Amino acid sequence: MTANYTQRTSPGKRADDFRLVILRNESEYDHLEWVESISRSTRPISLVIIDLTRDDWYEKVAAEAGADCFIVRPPGATAYFKQLYDERLFIIRYVLGKNIYPTYEEVAIYENKRMLDYWMKANNVPHPATRIFYHLEDALYFTERCNLPVVGKTAIGAGGSGVRIFRERSQLKTYILKTFSDKGLMRTWGPNLRKGNIPKRILKRLAHIPSTISYFRKKHQQATVDPQKWFVILQDFIPAEFEWRCVRIGDSFFGHKKLPGKGELISGTSRVSWEVPPPRLLDFIEEVTDKRGFYSQAVDLFEDAAGNYFVNELQCYFGSKNPHQMLRNGVPGRFVRKGKEWIFEEGTFNTNNSHDLRLSHVISLIDQGLFSKKRKPQDNSASQT
Ligand SMILES: Nc1ncnc2c1ncn2[C@@H]1O[C@H](COP(=O)(O)OP(=O)(O)O)[C@@H](O)[C@H]1O
Ligand SMILES: [Mg+2]
Repeated sequence: MTANYTQRTSPGKRADDFRLVILRNESEYDHLEWVESISRSTRPISLVIIDLTRDDWYEKVAAEAGADCFIVRPPGATAYFKQLYDERLFIIRYVLGKNIYPTYEEVAIYENKRMLDYWMKANNVPHPATRIFYHLEDALYFTERCNLPVVGKTAIGAGGSGVRIFRERSQLKTYILKTFSDKGLMRTWGPNLRKGNIPKRILKRLAHIPSTISYFRKKHQQATVDPQKWFVILQDFIPAEFEWRCVRIGDSFFGHKKLPGKGELISGTSRVSWEVPPPRLLDFIEEVTDKRGFYSQAVDLFEDAAGNYFVNELQCYFGSKNPHQMLRNGVPGRFVRKGKEWIFEEGTFNTNNSHDLRLSHVISLIDQGLFSKKRKPQDNSASQT
């Protein structure tokens, strides 16, 4: 991977001069895993945290002339804060020319299923055929003729909260009419009944009633504050008994299967099967992430009966408390490429929700003076994407 990076314009900076800036989002918590990994790092790092959602963001960013890297942590709770983050980050990356991690493209497609579809089309990444309609008459015309089932998705939303599967044309039509109305579409926010362990979870919630109330109040607010209106995302249904969750961070590759629980949707069940991804899948993940230098990614994909892969999601942040994302015969580890082979290295590589691994990747990029990404043939931008 090193070969994909070019020398910084000011090489020779010593490793112990590191200065990182975290661009936090509106959540009090999202960036704390970065803070934890940085504070535990054996390398001396000076850290500044800037809240990108505040009015003084620009002055604060502009004052950080000596920072080696701006660590970005885009939000995933509401579309309006996501828009704010992407817009301000655009200025930071492309007008001010700052080094950011992960890349702007990775952020642009994160928690935005419209951009994700455009990006996958433009990069020839196989994915479920997707149509995004901004005209009611086009959506209704499609509804009369499409094969069923069809999957409707909100642009933002995790754990299946914005996903509906339609088997009846009349229900699909109602969904579309609601989207093209003042009401719009809201995501689900109630208890996740697909997750299992329900009695235990209820008891846990009842033991902490005030925090349960504020938790659901917040979930309700986030899911309903900005209903999705005036466009609809419809996708071909891919029958799947599982979804692969693959991860690439730097040169480390991982994978396991996500399984359904109660109901049809897989996302949000927290059920997994520790099957090791075959070399063909690792090759595929490498190819998809190499296309635009995506080195901090979770790739979720379906596999049809014929063995074809369909990428469902690409996410530069994903939630997993597991300190490992892959087990082989019960042993945690990662795959790394050695020539044509994929070598399994034993170890626990995904501590702190993989932020420790992300931080070592950032450090290795700065250490080698190789932060800026080499231009791809189709990429006319000055340095990294
Ligand atoms: N095209 C599809 N075909 C079949 N099932 C799908 C499709 N897209 C999504 N699903 C189901 O819905 C779940 C949630 O969809 P996903 O796009 O991953 O949204 P989220 O961001 O909420 O995880 C998936 O885990 C899968 O079970
Ligand atoms: Mg998903």
